[in-house]
Amino acid sequence: MADRSVRPTRFAALYSFCWDHMSTAVKAVSIQTFVAGLRQFPEAAFDQVDMVRQFLEDTPVSADSLAPYLNWDRQHYTRNLIDRTHLYELMAICWEVGQASSVHNHRDQNCWMAVPIGRLHVENFHLVHQDLQKGRCQLEPSNTVEMNISHPCAVDPADPVHRVVNPRAFNQRAVSLHVYSRPFDTCVVYSPEQGTCGEIKLHFNTEYGKPK
Ligand SMILES: [Fe+2]
Repeated sequence: MADRSVRPTRFAALYSFCWDHMSTAVKAVSIQTFVAGLRQFPEAAFDQVDMVRQFLEDTPVSADSLAPYLNWDRQHYTRNLIDRTHLYELMAICWEVGQASSVHNHRDQNCWMAVPIGRLHVENFHLVHQDLQKGRCQLEPSNTVEMNISHPCAVDPADPVHRVVNPRAFNQRAVSLHVYSRPFDTCVVYSPEQGTCGEIKLHFNTEYGKPK
């Protein structure tokens, strides 16, 4: 009896390992296939979080296919537009070791992130108070989530303020894919330490694989 109870467990563990290993390798698709899938979604899919988040989980993107959109700058992370429709904007952001975004919001739009290369942290904040006209705010750190090829994430519409960090401890470059719905070109950035905030304009370093 003891023998019978052990074998299925071992088999299950091995099967689980192989499946996890193979599923990432087998299911990774080119960025072109990813875009074709994203373009199939109806407008309603972008007004909620779950459908696009599931699509990101089911559709990891191969690193090789991202080559035209990878652009590195030691001074600042780079934003590289891949696709844009009236419903969404898709970009690759390239993070050198130690680079991080400002703490920011998403203008009441949805945002999904996947990390086909490397690993990243999302540090979430709770916005206690904001007075944009006076440039004052109060933020509290809430939680930190790791993203990697197996773990994309969606910004919580109820608590959307966050920053993305490529910690020095990870010691590797990272690339994240961001889907914004709808497209926006300004956002509010915050300094949690100083309690200040202000609106900034967003720019792309490259568009459709070409320098701007
Ligand atoms: Fe963001």
